Amino acid sequence: MAEKYVVLRTSSPRAGTRTVKPYPKLEGEVLLPGDKSISHRAVILNSLAKGEAVIDNFAPGRDCLATVRCLRALSVKINKGGSQESPTLLVSGNGEDGLKESSNVLNAQDSATTMRLMGGLLASQPFLSVITGDLSLRNRPMRRLIEPMRLMGAEIRGRERDSFAPLVIMGKKLHGIDFTLPIPSAQIKSAILLAGLFAHGSTVLHQSIPSRDHTERMLKRMGTNLEGQGNLISLLPLDRPLLPLNLRIPGDMSTAAYFLVAGAIHPNARITVRDCGINPTRTGIIDILLAMGARLKIANRRSEAGEPLADIVVESSELKGIEVGGDIIPSLIDEIPVLAVAGCVAKGKTVIRDAGELRVKESDRIATVESELSDLGAKIEPLPDGMVIYGGRPLIGTEVNSHFDHRLAMSLAIAGLVARGVTTIKHAQAARVSYPAFWQTLTQIIND
Ligand code: S3P
Repeated sequence: MAEKYVVLRTSSPRAGTRTVKPYPKLEGEVLLPGDKSISHRAVILNSLAKGEAVIDNFAPGRDCLATVRCLRALSVKINKGGSQESPTLLVSGNGEDGLKESSNVLNAQDSATTMRLMGGLLASQPFLSVITGDLSLRNRPMRRLIEPMRLMGAEIRGRERDSFAPLVIMGKKLHGIDFTLPIPSAQIKSAILLAGLFAHGSTVLHQSIPSRDHTERMLKRMGTNLEGQGNLISLLPLDRPLLPLNLRIPGDMSTAAYFLVAGAIHPNARITVRDCGINPTRTGIIDILLAMGARLKIANRRSEAGEPLADIVVESSELKGIEVGGDIIPSLIDEIPVLAVAGCVAKGKTVIRDAGELRVKESDRIATVESELSDLGAKIEPLPDGMVIYGGRPLIGTEVNSHFDHRLAMSLAIAGLVARGVTTIKHAQAARVSYPAFWQTLTQIIND
């Protein structure tokens, strides 16, 4: 009998460690978790609406649950049902005066989206809030939030002269601004729009490179006066309550990316990801994989509550190296760790530039990707804003470390599927932040 190579188990003496080996075949269908970015926005905006909304397939990871906990602490009634992998939320919004001061410090845990979106919203609410996070989040930049909020008249302070969380926010009535976003950050754009809903006067945002536009799409559907998309957005403050929005959250493209890369780099694979969000501000990874030569097809295109989705099929491919940079970067910023894995397997050189933001994610992803994939035998040269990957060298399993970064944990697992021998991933439990069922799903496509 052919040896079964893959064992994905938690080795009990070192809880949180997972091992991955190559396996002759990857095959099957992947059910994705709900999109993380859309889930944060759906629960926040429905909390501000007047009436009840049902959100199906809410993202099950810790990040979005942190947002739910913050909103509950601010007196929003949110009931959670459905299954563990695909929760359903029933949100009872109390309209624009519905949020009440929390009796405790709010905790965004590892989630920068929670902290920055809630930071913008809370700056506009008539009470005091203090918001903190875990060690990693407390070391991520918050000045980018504080500065535009102050321009709107906010009273908001952060540790180390406004660099970091915890943030102390004395909420008050703000005024709209005409502001050019210095970096293409959807979190900052969304924070300003949330504050702008409750401000005096209009808010106008200019962005040279558009970032993910889920907030704009949702605000339009919920009855706000928001115009434009892309480089220029203008928003008038609320003159009537937001309309509740029932929706089923599309699958997360950032999670699909692990399986798309796995299918493309494995020599004997065919993987289908179903119901995946394909909002064009999120599909940079598809464009790049296709340009690298991936055999990838998008089928069954449709839309759900203003967001496009589809099924995607990927098969074993011969990838070639590519140059990635410029305007495409915000649409694949979270996928760069797994794109680097594809680059290791591709023929030739892959150059990633204009991605300095990677340095301020859950880990410094230029440093951690370089160090961990190099330990597996890859040749990677870090750049201040990216990396050069010399593809085509064999990967050899060894012990690697997620650095408590969910995207690194999952990317290293995909590398382990094509590395010779055993790859042991320390702190693999980090995957829970965005995809608690990741290891289980991986086992399914291996055992099918
Ligand atoms: C997100 C925006 C991006 C992304 C993050 C989620 C969002 O961050 O990296 O994972 O949901 O708005 P930035 O806004 O910092 O670019």
